[in-house]
Amino acid sequence: MNKKSIPQHIAIIMDGNGRWAKMRGKERYEGHIAGVESVRAVVRAAVKHGVSWLTLYAFSTENWGRPTEEVEAIMELFCRTVVGEAPELCRQGVRVKIMGEKERFSAKVLEMIGRIEDETASGDRLTLVLAFNYSARREMILAAQQLAREVAEGNITADAIDEAMFSERLMTRSIPDPDFIIRTSGECRLSNFLLWQASYAEFYFPETLWPDFGEEAFADALEVYARRDRRFGLVTE
Ligand code: FPP
Repeated sequence: MNKKSIPQHIAIIMDGNGRWAKMRGKERYEGHIAGVESVRAVVRAAVKHGVSWLTLYAFSTENWGRPTEEVEAIMELFCRTVVGEAPELCRQGVRVKIMGEKERFSAKVLEMIGRIEDETASGDRLTLVLAFNYSARREMILAAQQLAREVAEGNITADAIDEAMFSERLMTRSIPDPDFIIRTSGECRLSNFLLWQASYAEFYFPETLWPDFGEEAFADALEVYARRDRRFGLVTE
Protein backbone atom coordinates (compact mmCIF):
# COMPACT_ATOMS: atom_id res chain seq x y z
CA MET A 1 0.00 0.00 0.00
CA ASN A 2 1.55 3.33 -0.92
CA LYS A 3 1.53 6.29 1.44
CA LYS A 4 -1.23 8.06 -0.49
CA SER A 5 -3.69 5.21 0.07
CA ILE A 6 -3.31 5.41 3.85
CA PRO A 7 -6.02 7.68 5.30
CA GLN A 8 -4.60 10.64 7.15
CA HIS A 9 -7.54 10.62 9.58
CA ILE A 10 -9.62 7.58 10.55
CA ALA A 11 -12.68 7.96 12.77
CA ILE A 12 -14.29 4.93 14.40
CA ILE A 13 -17.69 4.35 15.99
CA MET A 14 -16.82 1.51 18.35
CA ASP A 15 -20.08 -0.45 18.35
CA GLY A 16 -21.07 -3.90 19.55
CA ASN A 17 -19.61 -4.16 23.05
CA GLY A 18 -23.01 -4.92 24.59
CA ARG A 19 -23.83 -7.63 22.04
CA TRP A 20 -20.36 -9.14 22.41
CA ALA A 21 -20.92 -9.43 26.18
CA LYS A 22 -24.48 -10.75 25.86
CA MET A 23 -23.37 -13.49 23.46
CA ARG A 24 -21.01 -14.69 26.17
CA GLY A 25 -23.50 -14.44 29.04
CA LYS A 26 -21.56 -11.50 30.47
CA GLU A 27 -22.61 -8.06 31.76
CA ARG A 28 -22.54 -5.16 29.28
CA TYR A 29 -19.67 -3.44 31.11
CA GLU A 30 -17.53 -6.52 30.48
CA GLY A 31 -18.00 -5.83 26.78
CA HIS A 32 -16.62 -2.35 27.32
CA ILE A 33 -13.63 -3.77 29.21
CA ALA A 34 -12.96 -6.08 26.25
CA GLY A 35 -13.42 -3.05 23.99
CA VAL A 36 -10.46 -1.31 25.62
CA GLU A 37 -8.22 -4.11 24.31
CA SER A 38 -9.40 -3.22 20.80
CA VAL A 39 -8.63 0.45 21.48
CA ARG A 40 -5.06 -0.55 22.37
CA ALA A 41 -4.71 -2.75 19.29
CA VAL A 42 -6.11 -0.15 16.92
CA VAL A 43 -3.93 2.66 18.31
CA ARG A 44 -0.87 0.44 17.87
CA ALA A 45 -1.91 -0.44 14.32
CA ALA A 46 -2.63 3.19 13.43
CA VAL A 47 0.86 4.21 14.56
CA LYS A 48 2.40 1.29 12.68
CA HIS A 49 0.64 2.15 9.40
CA GLY A 50 1.43 5.87 9.60
CA VAL A 51 -2.08 7.19 10.23
CA SER A 52 -1.77 10.71 11.69
CA TRP A 53 -5.20 11.17 13.29
CA LEU A 54 -7.47 8.61 14.93
CA THR A 55 -10.79 9.65 16.42
CA LEU A 56 -12.72 7.17 18.57
CA TYR A 57 -16.35 7.71 19.57
CA ALA A 58 -16.12 6.59 23.20
CA PHE A 59 -19.24 8.21 24.71
CA SER A 60 -22.02 10.13 23.01
CA THR A 61 -24.15 12.77 24.69
CA GLU A 62 -27.07 10.34 24.24
CA ASN A 63 -25.18 7.65 26.22
CA TRP A 64 -26.04 9.46 29.50
CA GLY A 65 -29.48 7.86 29.06
CA ARG A 66 -28.06 4.36 29.62
CA PRO A 67 -28.49 2.63 33.03
CA THR A 68 -26.50 4.46 35.73
CA GLU A 69 -24.32 1.42 36.44
CA GLU A 70 -23.25 1.23 32.79
CA VAL A 71 -22.50 4.97 32.58
CA GLU A 72 -20.48 4.74 35.79
CA ALA A 73 -18.63 1.68 34.51
CA ILE A 74 -17.66 3.50 31.29
CA MET A 75 -16.48 6.58 33.26
CA GLU A 76 -14.47 4.38 35.61
CA LEU A 77 -12.98 2.43 32.72
CA PHE A 78 -12.11 5.65 30.93
CA CYS A 79 -10.29 7.05 33.99
CA ARG A 80 -8.47 3.81 34.68
CA THR A 81 -7.37 3.32 31.08
CA VAL A 82 -6.32 6.91 30.55
CA VAL A 83 -4.04 6.91 33.59
CA GLY A 84 -2.61 3.43 33.08
CA GLU A 85 -2.00 3.90 29.38
CA ALA A 86 -0.15 7.23 29.46
CA PRO A 87 3.44 5.83 29.53
CA GLU A 88 2.78 3.42 26.65
CA LEU A 89 1.08 6.16 24.61
CA CYS A 90 4.07 8.45 25.16
CA ARG A 91 6.44 5.66 24.12
CA GLN A 92 4.50 5.27 20.87
CA GLY A 93 4.43 9.03 20.19
CA VAL A 94 0.68 9.32 20.68
CA ARG A 95 -0.85 12.64 21.71
CA VAL A 96 -4.32 12.39 23.28
CA LYS A 97 -7.06 15.00 22.92
CA ILE A 98 -10.50 14.75 24.46
CA MET A 99 -13.31 16.20 22.37
CA GLY A 100 -16.71 16.88 23.90
CA GLU A 101 -18.59 19.05 26.35
CA LYS A 102 -16.79 18.98 29.67
CA GLU A 103 -19.58 20.47 31.84
CA ARG A 104 -21.22 17.20 32.89
CA PHE A 105 -18.10 15.37 33.94
CA SER A 106 -17.17 14.63 37.53
CA ALA A 107 -14.10 16.32 39.01
CA LYS A 108 -12.26 13.00 38.76
CA VAL A 109 -12.96 12.60 35.04
CA LEU A 110 -11.91 16.22 34.44
CA GLU A 111 -8.69 15.62 36.32
CA MET A 112 -7.93 12.53 34.23
CA ILE A 113 -8.63 14.42 31.01
CA GLY A 114 -6.20 17.17 32.05
CA ARG A 115 -3.57 14.61 33.02
CA ILE A 116 -3.64 12.53 29.86
CA GLU A 117 -3.64 15.62 27.62
CA ASP A 118 -0.68 17.11 29.49
CA GLU A 119 1.32 13.91 29.78
CA THR A 120 1.02 13.06 26.09
CA ALA A 121 1.24 16.62 24.71
CA SER A 122 4.58 16.03 22.96
CA GLY A 123 3.43 12.98 20.97
CA ASP A 124 4.14 13.65 17.30
CA ARG A 125 3.28 10.43 15.45
CA LEU A 126 -0.46 10.03 16.04
CA THR A 127 -3.11 12.27 17.58
CA LEU A 128 -5.73 10.15 19.29
CA VAL A 129 -8.97 12.12 19.64
CA LEU A 130 -11.39 10.58 22.12
CA ALA A 131 -14.92 11.83 21.50
CA PHE A 132 -16.33 11.78 25.00
CA ASN A 133 -19.72 13.38 25.70
CA TYR A 134 -19.72 14.43 22.07
CA SER A 135 -22.73 15.29 19.89
CA ALA A 136 -22.32 16.61 16.35
CA ARG A 137 -25.57 18.57 16.41
CA ARG A 138 -24.67 20.18 19.73
CA GLU A 139 -21.23 21.01 18.35
CA MET A 140 -22.84 22.79 15.39
CA ILE A 141 -25.30 24.67 17.61
CA LEU A 142 -22.41 25.91 19.76
CA ALA A 143 -20.55 27.06 16.63
CA ALA A 144 -23.68 28.88 15.38
CA GLN A 145 -24.10 30.59 18.76
CA GLN A 146 -20.47 31.65 18.73
CA LEU A 147 -20.79 33.13 15.24
CA ALA A 148 -24.03 34.92 16.22
CA ARG A 149 -22.22 36.50 19.17
CA GLU A 150 -19.37 37.64 16.95
CA VAL A 151 -21.84 39.19 14.50
CA ALA A 152 -23.72 40.90 17.37
CA GLU A 153 -20.44 42.31 18.70
CA GLY A 154 -19.64 43.66 15.23
CA ASN A 155 -16.48 41.59 14.82
CA ILE A 156 -17.69 39.87 11.64
CA THR A 157 -20.57 40.35 9.22
CA ALA A 158 -23.17 37.61 8.63
CA ASP A 159 -22.31 37.55 4.92
CA ALA A 160 -18.65 36.84 5.66
CA ILE A 161 -19.47 33.50 7.28
CA ASP A 162 -18.13 30.69 5.14
CA GLU A 163 -17.21 27.03 5.56
CA ALA A 164 -13.76 27.81 6.91
CA MET A 165 -15.15 30.19 9.55
CA PHE A 166 -17.75 27.67 10.64
CA SER A 167 -15.18 24.85 10.79
CA GLU A 168 -12.94 27.06 12.92
CA ARG A 169 -15.64 27.23 15.60
CA LEU A 170 -16.25 23.49 15.80
CA MET A 171 -14.65 21.24 18.41
CA THR A 172 -12.57 19.78 15.57
CA ARG A 173 -10.85 23.06 14.72
CA SER A 174 -7.26 22.26 13.72
CA ILE A 175 -8.18 18.61 13.07
CA PRO A 176 -8.40 17.57 9.40
CA ASP A 177 -11.72 16.09 8.24
CA PRO A 178 -11.87 12.29 8.53
CA ASP A 179 -10.99 10.44 5.33
CA PHE A 180 -12.40 7.14 6.50
CA ILE A 181 -15.21 6.44 8.97
CA ILE A 182 -15.61 2.92 10.31
CA ARG A 183 -18.55 1.67 12.36
CA THR A 184 -18.23 -1.85 13.68
CA SER A 185 -21.03 -4.37 14.39
CA GLY A 186 -22.84 -4.02 11.06
CA GLU A 187 -24.89 -0.95 12.03
CA CYS A 188 -24.92 1.53 9.15
CA ARG A 189 -25.55 4.95 10.68
CA LEU A 190 -23.61 7.94 11.98
CA SER A 191 -25.46 8.45 15.28
CA ASN A 192 -24.63 12.14 15.67
CA PHE A 193 -20.91 11.68 14.95
CA LEU A 194 -18.88 14.24 12.95
CA LEU A 195 -21.87 15.20 10.77
CA TRP A 196 -20.22 18.32 9.32
CA GLN A 197 -16.77 16.78 8.98
CA ALA A 198 -17.99 13.58 7.27
CA SER A 199 -18.97 15.36 4.03
CA TYR A 200 -16.41 13.58 1.83
CA ALA A 201 -15.43 10.69 4.07
CA GLU A 202 -15.46 7.11 2.87
CA PHE A 203 -17.59 4.78 5.01
CA TYR A 204 -17.05 1.19 6.04
CA PHE A 205 -19.40 -0.95 8.12
CA PRO A 206 -17.76 -4.29 8.98
CA GLU A 207 -19.92 -6.89 10.80
CA THR A 208 -17.18 -7.42 13.42
CA LEU A 209 -18.18 -6.46 16.96
CA TRP A 210 -15.83 -3.89 18.48
CA PRO A 211 -14.14 -6.26 21.02
CA ASP A 212 -13.23 -8.54 18.08
CA PHE A 213 -11.80 -5.70 16.01
CA GLY A 214 -8.00 -5.92 16.28
CA GLU A 215 -4.88 -5.24 14.23
CA GLU A 216 -5.91 -7.65 11.50
CA ALA A 217 -9.36 -6.12 11.08
CA PHE A 218 -7.72 -2.69 11.00
CA ALA A 219 -5.38 -3.81 8.22
CA ASP A 220 -8.39 -5.23 6.30
CA ALA A 221 -10.12 -1.85 6.66
CA LEU A 222 -7.06 -0.11 5.20
CA GLU A 223 -7.24 -2.46 2.21
CA VAL A 224 -10.89 -1.52 1.72
CA TYR A 225 -9.99 2.18 1.85
CA ALA A 226 -7.12 1.76 -0.63
CA ARG A 227 -9.58 0.39 -3.21
CA ARG A 228 -11.93 3.37 -2.94
CA ASP A 229 -12.00 6.00 -5.65
CA ARG A 230 -12.35 9.38 -3.94
CA ARG A 231 -13.62 12.03 -6.30
CA PHE A 232 -14.74 14.88 -4.00
CA GLY A 233 -17.54 15.75 -6.39
CA LEU A 234 -15.19 15.79 -9.40
CA VAL A 235 -14.65 13.22 -12.15
CA THR A 236 -11.87 10.66 -12.41
CA GLU A 237 -9.61 11.18 -15.39
C1 FPP B 1 -20.75 0.91 21.96
O1 FPP B 1 -21.16 -0.43 22.18
C2 FPP B 1 -19.69 1.28 22.90
C3 FPP B 1 -19.77 2.30 23.82
C4 FPP B 1 -20.94 3.16 23.99
C5 FPP B 1 -18.68 2.58 24.77
C6 FPP B 1 -17.30 2.42 24.21
C7 FPP B 1 -16.35 2.60 25.32
C8 FPP B 1 -15.20 1.96 25.46
C9 FPP B 1 -14.65 0.97 24.50
C10 FPP B 1 -14.37 2.26 26.66
C11 FPP B 1 -13.94 3.71 26.65
C12 FPP B 1 -12.57 3.87 27.05
C13 FPP B 1 -11.57 4.43 26.35
C14 FPP B 1 -10.27 4.56 26.98
C15 FPP B 1 -11.72 4.96 24.97
P1 FPP B 1 -22.65 -0.71 22.66
O2 FPP B 1 -22.65 -0.78 24.15
O3 FPP B 1 -23.58 0.29 22.07
O4 FPP B 1 -22.89 -2.13 22.03
P2 FPP B 1 -24.30 -2.75 21.58
O5 FPP B 1 -24.78 -1.93 20.43
O6 FPP B 1 -23.93 -4.15 21.19
O7 FPP B 1 -25.21 -2.70 22.77
